[in-house]
Amino acid sequence: MKITLLPGDGIGPEIVAAAVDVLNATAKKFNFEIEYDEQLIGGAAIDGTGVPYPEATAVSAKAADAVLLGAVGGPKWDDVDPTLRPEKGLLQIRKDLGLYCNLRPMSVSKYTAHLSPLKSERAEGTDMLIVRELTGGIYFGEHNEAKEINGVETASDIELYTRPEVERIARFAFESARKRGKKVTSVDKANVLASSRMWRRIVTEMQANEYPDVELNHYYVDNCAMQFVLGPRQFDVVLTNNIFGDILSDEASVIAGSIGLLPSASLGDGTGLYEPIHGSAPDIAGQGIANPLGTIYSVAMMLRYSLGKDEAAAAVEAAVEKVLDEGYRTPDLYAEGLKRVSTSEMGKLVADAI
Ligand code: IPM
Ligand code: MG
Repeated sequence: MKITLLPGDGIGPEIVAAAVDVLNATAKKFNFEIEYDEQLIGGAAIDGTGVPYPEATAVSAKAADAVLLGAVGGPKWDDVDPTLRPEKGLLQIRKDLGLYCNLRPMSVSKYTAHLSPLKSERAEGTDMLIVRELTGGIYFGEHNEAKEINGVETASDIELYTRPEVERIARFAFESARKRGKKVTSVDKANVLASSRMWRRIVTEMQANEYPDVELNHYYVDNCAMQFVLGPRQFDVVLTNNIFGDILSDEASVIAGSIGLLPSASLGDGTGLYEPIHGSAPDIAGQGIANPLGTIYSVAMMLRYSLGKDEAAAAVEAAVEKVLDEGYRTPDLYAEGLKRVSTSEMGKLVADAI
């Protein structure tokens, strides 16, 4: 298996190193070999090569079976040209690899339910999969940076979707729902946006024609944000566009109690990319206190979706459960009576459990 490692910025290198320990233990246990190729992305790539997504990174990623990414961005690069920001590296690799489908599973674990800002009886038992469109919409529509038009400073960004883009992401959501709770909630802003009205029409059509066995409902995004807090258990698969998915997945993550535990997979027609949903957390970088479990769970998703190793994926998830069950916690999840461990210690514990 060829894996491209893109540690990136901030806590990225620490959490990726811990996840690599786990991946190595998994490879040993399940008898396969991994060849790593570490490359630059984001701020680290800007510092090293002048651009956030260098050609060498693109070449390596395309040749790999999967990409494991840490995080990008930080205050150091806040003032660089907008076309060269670290985040641009992430957007470019998503587009370049055709990663139109972003899966962000969120479930409320018994280890974190008490950390949820929601009352535990409301949060407990929540288990949803956010299916976010990742290579279209306002993120990739024309961006017009601020300039004077008719004497007034003006800027704009275009939200644009085509039918094939909506169909392929909706298909992914319906297919995922068939393997889960058989319910899709499609989120849009059809009361205001033309792109949303087309989105809703296509999704409705597909359900009627191809997925009558899957229950479908629609929420406007503002109502959906409210429903996440009022009754998160009502959701199974949440299907939405790029920007609404960005916002709703952050909201969902805190309901789980900690953003540090949540993984993601970005899939398309070629190499898949795996990363925790949190950012680069520059404030705690280099201190060995970041939680690597979101990245380790991303490794489990990688094993399942890109490497075809379901058993190994389940072993990684079981190993994390075991370590948490034994009371080991990184500082973000620590409470009295538990055992506080560092980022790398957590990685080693999970690797040993495998
Ligand atoms: C995410 C992040 C990215 C996004 C940023 C870093 C560009 O917030 O993956 O959710 O907006 O997609
Ligand atoms: Mg985000």
